Amino acid sequence: MTTLSSINNSHIAMIGLGVMGKSLALNLLDNGFNVAGFDINQHHLDQTTQEATALNNSEQNHSVFISCKSLTELLNQLSTPRVIALSIPAGNIVETVIDDLLKAGLQPQDIVIDTGNSLWTDTIARDKKYQGKLNFFSTAVSGGEQGARFGPALMASGDPQAWLHIKPMWNAISAKVDKNGMPVPPKHPGEPCATYTGPSGSGHYVKMVHNGIEYADMQLICEVYQYLNQALGLPANEIGEIFNQWNQGVLNSYLMEISADILKQKDFHTDKPLVDMILDKAGQKGTGTWTAINSFEVGSPTPTIAQSVYARSLSSLKTRRELGAKLLTAKTEKALTDDLSTIVNELHDALYCAKLCVYAQGFDLMKTTSSQQGWPLNFADIAKGWRSGCIIRAIFLQSITKAFESNHDLDNLMFDQSFAKELEQRQLNWRRSVANASLQGIPIPGMSSALSYFDAMRCATLPANLLQAQRDYFGSHTYSRVDQPEANKYHVEWSQSPRVEQSL
Ligand code: 6PG
Repeated sequence: MTTLSSINNSHIAMIGLGVMGKSLALNLLDNGFNVAGFDINQHHLDQTTQEATALNNSEQNHSVFISCKSLTELLNQLSTPRVIALSIPAGNIVETVIDDLLKAGLQPQDIVIDTGNSLWTDTIARDKKYQGKLNFFSTAVSGGEQGARFGPALMASGDPQAWLHIKPMWNAISAKVDKNGMPVPPKHPGEPCATYTGPSGSGHYVKMVHNGIEYADMQLICEVYQYLNQALGLPANEIGEIFNQWNQGVLNSYLMEISADILKQKDFHTDKPLVDMILDKAGQKGTGTWTAINSFEVGSPTPTIAQSVYARSLSSLKTRRELGAKLLTAKTEKALTDDLSTIVNELHDALYCAKLCVYAQGFDLMKTTSSQQGWPLNFADIAKGWRSGCIIRAIFLQSITKAFESNHDLDNLMFDQSFAKELEQRQLNWRRSVANASLQGIPIPGMSSALSYFDAMRCATLPANLLQAQRDYFGSHTYSRVDQPEANKYHVEWSQSPRVEQSL
């Protein structure tokens, strides 16, 4: 029997041929790798076989796709160490499939790559659980179906030896950028957006933070849309045109591009803009929530990411919002100016500054966790890997790359000289936009939380002195003094007279 192992060594197995698995398999075939595929869903298997055959016919592609009926058949296709990618939903199913692979004869040197959106702590636990039984590796994939098919951003982590084995494949199939950091079309040469982030779990962690940033980036764009639409009465297509123009400059990004495109789309049934016909209740799979939870756990604030998760939750309270619209009266005032182009320019700068704060929050979070976990995360490499293929790809990531390349230990992205200057120059426009939205009663949780983050980060003194005193007052929680070492703790018996400060 001809097996992939008897053809050549450049092969891989893909388990799970749904939207993402099929696209990754076709991408691998496109790039000259042979693929053995398995899915419990026969339709998925047939569909991939059909599309792989079409690829062979249309592009004189000679890569081989072997459709396997069982995991045993799949394993028999591969030479050792076998490389098996899983493209299955996050959760317990990952372990079920791995356990089935072990029963089917998986060997300790075989590499299993989880390409799903798994929670990073699950990945670390799985790595421990399967030590000595198999080489567990992970690669988080960003870019949706199109990305997976023609060039995703890949965030890989696990055993460095396994990475050496996998790297040529991931480099080949990932998105690429040119020497200026700009995305290149599929199949064009360039620097691959496949990043090895380090020890097990770190790749999924980086992808989780990517998604947190994605949530906030999307929310900020939506807030600008709501302001322009509801406060200024601009129709969707005109807002789309504004976004289109913004997409030519510093705000150039995939999310800006698709938002412009969406806003210009007419409904298929009425003549209205399609966006006006879409129910305003946001869904979520949970990765933004994971990011916010992690930020609480490690004490690294990501207020704008958390607000973006809340904004989705609030949107789903449609019935209550409809009641609120009847019961709660807004007392509003006119904006600071009625000049449309001034307002639009201000919003442009507000969006830019808020976006910068979101990235500052995300990178700070990664920095905190990487030092807690002992991961050697390289932030310049992470920013580089996000320049193409992923959902948050943006021209702005090239500047972030430069900021971390010139200072690997940058305390906070906002402290980079050129970003600090931009924040200074655009700041008043940001404040005016937040003020206008507030005066006109438009909710902007993302943009305003980002401004408060910026203001808090540039405040050498915050009111936590009073807060500490309150805690000590009702709970004897003690406080430190500004004129003594921080480790020295003090307490006042607030109910006694005269009050005396005790040194503890
Ligand atoms: C990506 C995306 C993707 C994400 C989905 C849905 O990088 O390709 O981040 O991984 O999970 O787009 O996310 P929500 O349902 O949570 O919006």
